[in-house]
Amino acid sequence: MKLSPSLLSADFGRLAEEIRAVEPVSAYIHFDVMDGHFVPNLTFGPPVVNALRRYTSLPFDIHLMIEHPAAYAPRFEVGPEDVITFHVEAADPPGRVIRVIRGMGCRVGISLRPSTSLELIVPYLERIDWVLVMSVEPGFGGQKFMPSALPRIRKLRELIGERPVIIAVDGGIKPDNVRAVVEAGAEVVVAGSAIFGKDDPRAAAEELLRAAHG
Ligand code: DX5
Ligand code: ZN
Repeated sequence: MKLSPSLLSADFGRLAEEIRAVEPVSAYIHFDVMDGHFVPNLTFGPPVVNALRRYTSLPFDIHLMIEHPAAYAPRFEVGPEDVITFHVEAADPPGRVIRVIRGMGCRVGISLRPSTSLELIVPYLERIDWVLVMSVEPGFGGQKFMPSALPRIRKLRELIGERPVIIAVDGGIKPDNVRAVVEAGAEVVVAGSAIFGKDDPRAAAEELLRAAHG
């Protein structure tokens, strides 16, 4: 399992330091970009994400919870190891968003709300690198993990089959449920409050990794 700490629960006044604290035990940094339309919350956008690039060499895992991903994705500065994930429920047609993000030279992810049918993303599985399964309703950190995500991860694993698509899971992941998430088929685990909600984010991240692998 690879860890992608979500900055949503970090101290926004010290983002570079927060990233550096978890860098040695992380595979990605997860950025929750919210627009106040797709979800009822606002966070940060391209200027903040792009400015943090020079403080870390970790790939960026950019989670767009915005209504118009095709319009705003190109404002992020990305390389081949970064992932931009958009929601299949957003207003822009998924095929178009995939083309736009692919054209930027990075990896492409699709996410779905907990209540959205997995069948909706099947037509795109050949064209994406990553699926972000939400295990909370997107919009806020610190919510409770929805156990209904576990059968969804297993089903997605089947739907993906032999395709090289990574399963990431996001929302409410803690040391007491991370093992079940990984056993269901998650390869990347996003965690916000379980890491940055703690006094020692690095130790909290290590605890999650230990709990995941038993
Ligand atoms: C929710 C975000 C998640 C979330 C993770 O909209 O996409 O990344 O903040 O935070 P925790 O781990 O606290 O649920
Ligand atoms: Zn997220």
